[in-house]
Amino acid sequence: PSTEPFEARDYSLTGASTQRAIDAGLAGADWYRPTIDPARLQVLMARTNARAARDVVLWLALLASSGFVAFRSLGHWWAVPAFVVYGALYGGAADPRWHECGHGSAFRTRAANDIVYTFASFLLLREATLWRWSHVRHHSDTIVVGRDPEIAFQRPFRLRAFVPNVLNLTNGASMLRRIVRHAFGTVDDPARDFVPQAEWRRVVWEARAYVAVLFAVVVWSIGSRSIVPLLFVGLPSFYGVWLLLFFGLTQHAGLREDVLDHRLNTRTVHMNPVFRFLYLNMNYHVEHHLFPSVPYHALPALHAEIKDQLAPAHPSTLAAYREIVRALRHQRRDAGWELPVPAIARRPTLVGSGRRYAGQIDAGRRDPGQIDAGRRDPGQIDAGQIDAGPVDLGPVDGVAPRGVRRVDAGARTFVLCRTADGEHVLLDGLCTHGRAHLADGVIVGDAIECPKHNGRFDLRTGEPVRRPVTVAVRRYDVRVRDGRLQADVS
Ligand code: FES
Repeated sequence: PSTEPFEARDYSLTGASTQRAIDAGLAGADWYRPTIDPARLQVLMARTNARAARDVVLWLALLASSGFVAFRSLGHWWAVPAFVVYGALYGGAADPRWHECGHGSAFRTRAANDIVYTFASFLLLREATLWRWSHVRHHSDTIVVGRDPEIAFQRPFRLRAFVPNVLNLTNGASMLRRIVRHAFGTVDDPARDFVPQAEWRRVVWEARAYVAVLFAVVVWSIGSRSIVPLLFVGLPSFYGVWLLLFFGLTQHAGLREDVLDHRLNTRTVHMNPVFRFLYLNMNYHVEHHLFPSVPYHALPALHAEIKDQLAPAHPSTLAAYREIVRALRHQRRDAGWELPVPAIARRPTLVGSGRRYAGQIDAGRRDPGQIDAGRRDPGQIDAGQIDAGPVDLGPVDGVAPRGVRRVDAGARTFVLCRTADGEHVLLDGLCTHGRAHLADGVIVGDAIECPKHNGRFDLRTGEPVRRPVTVAVRRYDVRVRDGRLQADVS
């Protein structure tokens, strides 16, 4: 049972809960992060086109063949199961493809990620740019009330509100209304809250493109006096959403709000190979939130690496649903009811706020620029050197090609990178978007990717080359003297 009265929450992004979350230090805060060998993490973050291409082609082949079967089934009883399958591949299996390509981690090639992301966004009726930013916020402030635009279950849980959404009736209708509103040029307040103004025009034009395609299909249906065109384009975003819900509910449903530890608000569930293909390994959801730069195909290996620091994974989808049903049944009557805190997360090293529980302490409100003393050592340089001109960055072969190393100097932190060609580059070490340490990121082509939201900076210039980063990091020339690397960072 809950131990204190539940305060009614305002789940909007511009209401009372928003200010409360900011005041409590829950907005853009530092989250629990397990330890992992940096070299191993670099291996896990490596990108490949081949694996994503195989999985996307297989998905598209299944989508096309199920569509063909559904077309041939028209007029027969088996049209029902045929369209259930087609809809699930369209409005359900598109979701993890959308998600992985939105993170830019599925393919190594950026354009391939963007093409699949845009296509899947349309299938899901998600405005591509708007949802890209919405998902950035979801990763910054996961299940923080008033900040996270992607909280699926608001408390108290209402079954009557949930049931129509098995066919996406309420959510889908409101997404359509929003698309139309944006197509008329009005970007709504929640979108203004998390989409930078420079992107509003793009939001409007994407909405217009969606409206144009959907309008054409409606006209086709009316002209042909048949619902068949809409059964293939548009309506599957509604009747196919059941698969999205089936997998997606396991991510956060019934878990804690307003904590800064993904072990408390996110679930990892062991699933069978078919589910894992359809869901692209997003069943390793705690791992994904902890290390969003690790591509989906490496999540099982990441899980093996850090599972001792996480709550035990749910052994099956059924076990996860047992827990979800239990939590939601309680939260229907008592909105403040919580599942027990996993033993591994009861340590007082946790940070969090809002509803308290044993072992929980206040958000440390660490200065984003604060350097973790435990991580100093090979890359640490004497602060005194900074004003003294060139600083020594170590031996020339201290960083492997495509490798990164953190370099700390007093209150400043840098990232020393080595390109695939062997060139060394020194950049300011904190991401200009959320001040994550770039040394925890990965080299992708000519860019370094931030570990927190997958923003990228060009190694040659320090300029931002992938959203959400929009401001450059400073770049310093590195030269070689007597087999050692030097840079002037004064
Ligand atoms: Fe958001 Fe770096 S902190 S992209």
